[in-house]
Amino acid sequence: MTKLIAGNWKMNGSLAANEGLLSALASGLPKSLSCDVAVCIPAPYFAQFQALFATMPALALVALGSQDVSSQSAGAFTGEVSATMLRDFACRYAIVGHSERRQYHGETDFLVAAKAQQALAVGITPIVCVGETLAEREAGQTTEVVKRQLAAVIHANGHCISEIVLAYEPVWAIGTGKTASPEEAQAVHAVLRAQLAAATEHASRVKIIYGGSMNAANASTLLAQPDIDGGLIGGASLKAGDFLSIISAAS
Ligand code: PGA
Repeated sequence: MTKLIAGNWKMNGSLAANEGLLSALASGLPKSLSCDVAVCIPAPYFAQFQALFATMPALALVALGSQDVSSQSAGAFTGEVSATMLRDFACRYAIVGHSERRQYHGETDFLVAAKAQQALAVGITPIVCVGETLAEREAGQTTEVVKRQLAAVIHANGHCISEIVLAYEPVWAIGTGKTASPEEAQAVHAVLRAQLAAATEHASRVKIIYGGSMNAANASTLLAQPDIDGGLIGGASLKAGDFLSIISAAS
């Protein structure tokens, strides 16, 4: 299956920095790509991305994504950004349930499932994040935790579940420089694939991507695993050279 390499810029960037990063990316990309590429950028910069897109044709190879979406469709929800608003800027992807949202904003499995539903309803692919903390891994609860997180999304989305991208992001590996070994990651991806297979006959075409300190040096061994269909890249997506190396490892 075509792999997906998605950058998650988190709360980083500025008008000047974004222009530098995106132009370095545009000039470093090959003419055609054999993997899908996206950047999930802070919402205030969507308009800048669209404007740069007009001046940098190579950016056509890079899809736009958001880092979150509201679980509500419109109305009195101060600070929220709806899926329809994202679609106005041609967002193709929306990350939902990132562990930083679960941890710092108290997002529950139920809320994450509702966010995925909002994205799917307007044709945006949710990148649904699941993953265990270090304490949960050490307590032998990894499988139970990721299955519980995915089950909520399956329950709320029914047969549409085959339209999501699933991201396995062990919380202990995010931003820590500690990566899950290819075997550890593959084992969890296989569990998730089996859970999807029980819910949809199209489980084999759902991309299950890995995130957590994926970088230019470790990307190719992770991406060589049978159930690792791409990467969600935080820190390394902020350096054009590193992000381009990961893209080429996926191609
Ligand atoms: P990292 O972040 O690559 O910096 O570990 C990944 C993520 O949080 O999506």
